[in-house]
Amino acid sequence: MASINANYFELQGSYLFSEIARRVAKYKGENPAADIIRMGIGDVTRPIAPAIIQAMHKAVDEMGAASSFRGYGPEQGYDFLLEAIRDNDYKARGVDIATDEIFVSDGAKCDVGNIQELFAQNAKVAVTDPVYPVYVDTNVMAGRAGKFDPAQNRYSNIVYLPCNAENGFVPALPESSVDMIYLCFPNNPTGTTLTKDQLKPWVDYAKKTGAVILFDSAYEAYITQPGVPHSIYEIEGAKEVAIEMRSFSKTAGFTGLRCAYTVVPKALITQFEGKAVSLNELWNRRHTTKFNGVSYVTQRAAEAVYSPEGKLQIRETIDYYMQNARLLTSGLTKLGYEVFGGVNAPYIWLKTPNGIGSWAFFDELLNVRQVVGTPGAGFGVSGEGYLRLTAFSTRENTQRALERLGKK
Ligand code: MLT
Repeated sequence: MASINANYFELQGSYLFSEIARRVAKYKGENPAADIIRMGIGDVTRPIAPAIIQAMHKAVDEMGAASSFRGYGPEQGYDFLLEAIRDNDYKARGVDIATDEIFVSDGAKCDVGNIQELFAQNAKVAVTDPVYPVYVDTNVMAGRAGKFDPAQNRYSNIVYLPCNAENGFVPALPESSVDMIYLCFPNNPTGTTLTKDQLKPWVDYAKKTGAVILFDSAYEAYITQPGVPHSIYEIEGAKEVAIEMRSFSKTAGFTGLRCAYTVVPKALITQFEGKAVSLNELWNRRHTTKFNGVSYVTQRAAEAVYSPEGKLQIRETIDYYMQNARLLTSGLTKLGYEVFGGVNAPYIWLKTPNGIGSWAFFDELLNVRQVVGTPGAGFGVSGEGYLRLTAFSTRENTQRALERLGKK
């Protein structure tokens, strides 16, 4: 009999979005005629921009001609895409990142899930609470999270940093020593964010303690306010302490196309048995061993995100979603709900009415109003009493969802 990885038995229930899909499918099975509005998983609804589609068509034709056919590409990504990322996402913001510090991949979810492999099994992990479940679950799978305590609804070896209305959704620095800190800003799920001044103490903390920050900035394209950093590398010294993950999923509607990237600066040096270790080299080793690169056609699509037409077109789509966010925040506020987020992120974090639990509110919305959200409790203890709605729906469905929420 093959023995298996016992850490998997420490995982709690099913993956959050699979559980939601299961409940929705059950309801739909029992009520086939139900007209369900889905504002649960943060999946986009607008089509890919024409400039990107055009670039893909061209790349497909290239693959069909012997003279331009491409086989395996560089695992880290083609230069044309690495250079576009370097120039547009970093140089344009005054940040100097080299192309060999960028690793193109098939998704930020995979990268944030895989990055923990670089760290020791006894490395201490800190996460904000509520949190995108992938950070926690992948550390559980790796045996780093300790035992699950059902009374606390938390893992014994994870340091949780609450983010709630009381602290303005700004986590406090860890009180005990930690090695890996997952930060996601603009935040999934709360839709709130940190200013540069609020992010700086984290970089200073990591420099002082030797911790590494794993910075997920998948939602940076949704920032509307000045003073909010698009990249952690806008903070001085961050290249020595932080790895950053970005995605084309929410920026350019690639949830079905799949393309993202991770930046591992060469200045990020840790120690192993008294010797300096480059995380850039380790990640390169991992990436080239376990990954064969994103398809040429998809990388050409990602490159087109940075073309002048591509930029204009994706901006229109982002503005469309942010108009949904504004409709939701103002509409829900008028209806008497307490809402957060939705200004620099496509997520609205709603306080459940009358202190009702997150899952109970989720079930009520599904069963009575046929609107699907994501229960805040699914993101952690501090998410209890909240529900997340996404702004990624169509305008029509956003308005219809609001009407349904307003019905007595
Ligand atoms: C979410 O709804 O939180 C996201 O869509 C999940 C993801 O990006 O994997």
